Amino acid sequence: MDYKQFAGRNIVSIKDLSREEIECLLALAEKMIPYAKGEKRTRALDGKIIANLFFEPSTRTRLSFETAAHRLGAQILDVSQMSATSIAKGETLADTIKMVDAYCDAMVIRHPWEGSARLATKYSTGPVVNAGDGAASHPTQTLLDLFTIQRCKGKIDGLNIALVGDLKYGRTVHSLVNALMMFDVKLTFVAPDSLQMPPDIVENMRLKGFNPKMTSDLDDAVEDADVLYVTRIQKERFPDPTEYSKVAGTYRVDKALLMKAKNDMIVMHPLPRVNEIATEVDETPNAKYFEQAFNGIPMRMAILCSLLGGEIDG
Ligand code: NCD
Repeated sequence: MDYKQFAGRNIVSIKDLSREEIECLLALAEKMIPYAKGEKRTRALDGKIIANLFFEPSTRTRLSFETAAHRLGAQILDVSQMSATSIAKGETLADTIKMVDAYCDAMVIRHPWEGSARLATKYSTGPVVNAGDGAASHPTQTLLDLFTIQRCKGKIDGLNIALVGDLKYGRTVHSLVNALMMFDVKLTFVAPDSLQMPPDIVENMRLKGFNPKMTSDLDDAVEDADVLYVTRIQKERFPDPTEYSKVAGTYRVDKALLMKAKNDMIVMHPLPRVNEIATEVDETPNAKYFEQAFNGIPMRMAILCSLLGGEIDG
């Protein structure tokens, strides 16, 4: 398929994309690498304005969308200081979206409410990209995660992938699992019982013929893994802080743990990390999380360029 078929579409959930469409975006992201590094130049989105609406903290997602837009020649309308907007005066999300829609050609939205990006599509005439809606989903992170796995391992099919940490509240792992179900992979979920993958996701996997291994034992899971995807415990989503203190610091990936793993196992993390990966891991060839963070640029360039009907050479 041709990436031009994405023009005018939204990316709200990874489930809105087929495997073929995901592979098309992975191929376009690959083409974007020299542009993402500044080695080649393009004005594919010259004259376009992209609004970044961030109602929750963000470093990588917001900055990489901004860099991606600049590398494509587009301008960014930064709406990340919500306390400085009329939201603080009680304006509804719907009204904010309608107004921002008139000021831009596409919008990227992060919001604490599940379903907020889907709601935004009702009030926006231009493409909407979900940059995280509560604990629900984070599809552009998933696309860059798949891109990272493909670049590091040369494939996605056939891999053993272990997801570790906060599988209950982590939106990155919810989206990633939904995407990985389109591939032929073996999945292991490593979490304390109270933070295991939500039952509806596991049930849906079983209906599709997947049988994920569920454990709380990281040492056991690491032995067979090709990819170890580590996540932060999502403190801000715990209704009760004492529940957080019971699970904080449960897992820590360090060099001693890597000794139990395959030599070529890769360690990924959407970042930010708190203390779930020791800094001593950073210098090992297994550590791919900073490369993963860079990959957000070519992947988000691929997303913006294709939704906004840009053309890229090469
Ligand atoms: C993640 C998020 O916001 O869900 N961060 C990101 O986008 N890279 C992960 C997290 O906050 O733990």
